[in-house]
Amino acid sequence: MNTTVHTIRIAGSEVSYPAGEGDNLLRAGLRAGIGLPYECNAGGCGSCKFDLLSGEVEELWAQAPGLSAKDRARGRRLACQCRPLTDCEIKIRPAPAYLTPTPPGLFEAEFVGSRIVTPDIREFRFRAPPPASFVPGQYALLELPGADQLRAYSMSNLPNAAGDWDFMVRKVPNGRVSTLLFDALRPGDRVRIDGPLGLAHWRDDTDRDVVCIAGGSGLAPIVSIANAAALQSSTRRPIWLFYGGRGPADLPSFDECLHAASRVRVQAAVSDPQLADAHGWSGERGFVHELVARNLAGDLAAHRYYLAGPPPMIETLVRMLMVEHRVPATQIHYDRFF
Ligand SMILES: Cc1cc2nc3c(=O)[nH]c(=O)nc-3n(C[C@H](O)[C@H](O)[C@H](O)COP(=O)(O)OP(=O)(O)OC[C@H]3O[C@@H](n4cnc5c(N)ncnc54)[C@H](O)[C@@H]3O)c2cc1C
Ligand code: FES
Repeated sequence: MNTTVHTIRIAGSEVSYPAGEGDNLLRAGLRAGIGLPYECNAGGCGSCKFDLLSGEVEELWAQAPGLSAKDRARGRRLACQCRPLTDCEIKIRPAPAYLTPTPPGLFEAEFVGSRIVTPDIREFRFRAPPPASFVPGQYALLELPGADQLRAYSMSNLPNAAGDWDFMVRKVPNGRVSTLLFDALRPGDRVRIDGPLGLAHWRDDTDRDVVCIAGGSGLAPIVSIANAAALQSSTRRPIWLFYGGRGPADLPSFDECLHAASRVRVQAAVSDPQLADAHGWSGERGFVHELVARNLAGDLAAHRYYLAGPPPMIETLVRMLMVEHRVPATQIHYDRFF
């Protein structure tokens, strides 16, 4: 086994950390307890941009959308898409805000089984050495047998002593990794988990209403957060869960997903009128941000928000909350599913 370890130095500071051969520049730093900036770990958001001052790295996805043409011209790179090949000196600005209560690790887990949530979402369970330590709302990167790329999936369960890591995954047509999960993975198969990661996690400081909002595959983290709020919260403030799907078939059974369903005020809407008519849908229609605006009365700036789903949905929601309702950015936590 190759045990080469490279040293990554952060320019202008005394900080350095080790990265084993083949490890990821960003996640090796986070595992070493250094608050390197990031959001998605998927090459989409650009938060982890850095300058390479010396040394060599392998870029895993040179065309990642998180870098603009200007960034590339300036030689900038994404830490989540680089592996160090030598010792390196990098320019990046760490901050304690990027550290989470449970430090990330790298470990193996066994696929135990799955259940149907909607026609195109399944919940997959993996068992790792206990405990399963994470904060509700966080995600992990899964490395599947036969996959040459990692993908981020949010945990849908709560931290637990059994070592269970549950993920609700939407099957993407021709998607490289989600197709493997649905069609090729067999109980007993082993995967590698890199996590927990992510900053859009549950905060139990609730002198505020908890408002969880998701569309499509954003279901997993908001179910986990709503369950944490209902079961663990130190207060009895209202908990809202808003969910949007294209048609009625895209809506899960919230009674099955929520442990204390009576504590959570669920509102769901469908956005495709033809699918709504075809199923005789008599509930709410429209996009999830419209659903929130219609149903959340009073001072929207008083609540704490957790959002998960496709980037355009999140960007519309954040704009609506911050611009129209003056919700402070510190009360909005989101993961964009690039
Ligand atoms: C923080 C976060 C949390 C997420 N949580 C969930 C979840 O809980 N449930 C869920 O269903 N989905 C989730 N996703 C989306 C998920 O990670 C996958 O994008 C989705 O499953 C599609 O992957 P695929 O391989 O099937 O499809 P593909 O179409 O093959 O891949 C799509 C994604 O892969 C990435 N990608 C494309 N090319 C490359 C490359 N060359 N190198 C590296 N990456 C590449 C891009 O991010 C792209 O959006 C999350 C994404 C993020 C960022
Ligand atoms: S964290 Fe690297 S691009 Fe999002």
